[in-house]
Amino acid sequence: MVDCLGMDPLLAWRSEFPIVETCTYLVSHSLGAMPRRTEAYLSQFAREWGTRGVQAWYEGWWEIGRVTGDLLAPTIGAAPGTISMHQNSTVAQSIVASCFSYAGPRRRIIVQDLDFPSNHYLFNGFARYGAEVVTVPSDDGVRGRIDRVVDAIDERTALVNLSLVLFRSAHLQDVAPVIERAHTVGARVVLDLYQAAGAVPIDLTSLGADFAVGGSVKWLCGGPGAGYLYVRPDVMHEMQPAVVGWAGHGAPFDFETGPIAYADGVERFQSGTPNVPSLYSARAGYEIVAEIGVPAIREKSLRLTRRLMDAAVARGWRLNTPDGDHERGASVVIDVPNGAAVVAGMTARKVIVDYRPDAGVRVAPHFYNTEAEIDLAVETMASLAGAV
Ligand SMILES: Cc1ncc(COP(=O)(O)O)c(C=O)c1O
Repeated sequence: MVDCLGMDPLLAWRSEFPIVETCTYLVSHSLGAMPRRTEAYLSQFAREWGTRGVQAWYEGWWEIGRVTGDLLAPTIGAAPGTISMHQNSTVAQSIVASCFSYAGPRRRIIVQDLDFPSNHYLFNGFARYGAEVVTVPSDDGVRGRIDRVVDAIDERTALVNLSLVLFRSAHLQDVAPVIERAHTVGARVVLDLYQAAGAVPIDLTSLGADFAVGGSVKWLCGGPGAGYLYVRPDVMHEMQPAVVGWAGHGAPFDFETGPIAYADGVERFQSGTPNVPSLYSARAGYEIVAEIGVPAIREKSLRLTRRLMDAAVARGWRLNTPDGDHERGASVVIDVPNGAAVVAGMTARKVIVDYRPDAGVRVAPHFYNTEAEIDLAVETMASLAGAV
């Protein structure tokens, strides 16, 4: 929203992100800009390690997974105590996949062809344990076919993987009908929130998804090493992940051997020692996103991406992102001729975007970007597309 003087209040946050002073940073779908206060949090970690040593475990480090999850929870509409933290989204997803047995008739896992490759690799890996992966195709490589996902779900389905925003096209999918259908036949749903969290309003509690996974590198501005796993509170106790470790035990410091006696709470999904420095680094981005609020971020994102799409269409470029505000995430994929070379040229001119084969140039403004930066990106792209 702009105020009565036409000013954008979110631009006050620019000074908190050092990199935006050095380049036109439009790549938050890949690596969100680092907040200034991240450095302070990382220094705090080093200070605690350096001065408190092993005592630090008893002064906050051991519980840091739960505390960090609780900090993230409001941004994705989750209740406190429902999020555990992991090295990355793929590890979180592997814990979800390990909650099921694939030996009986209910052994199907449904994915879409446009899901992120990690999901494909991981679930296909579970074929060795009996899982049958059903891949739902899209028609155009841009839009996921939710109707086909719904039709694919039946009593043979154990798990449905669903990306809220598709990484390749930024298609924001209507996941509610899938969750409803899955629950009707006793299947579970895991949402991949990676390209949505921090940029698109999400209410996991009202959606009723069984699981959700993602990471902090992109719109959450939290850096690497802070993947998250949400589990619906009322099904949490039924879930018995096979991928587990001593930190998931109800009494980890008893060091019992043999099969695990799971912790009651979200810790049951914890494998081993928490990734403390990464969780310190994630804190700043989570705080800032929560302070601004995702609705304000979304309002600005829709404004900047619309400006970008209008300018791209005016130059005759095809968009590989759905047009409607209700059906696109926070990035725009533009099919510019010679996209890879154009992106290399833009990088050399300090306009930072990226390129994906079979998709195009991906441009991703966030709350710290300006309209002038959008215009500069389009002009730079146009001059290079003509030249290469
Ligand atoms: C939608 C989506 N899912 C999953 C991943 C993989 O995440 P990670 O590297 O944290 O496992 C990515 C990474 O870009 C992604 O965009």
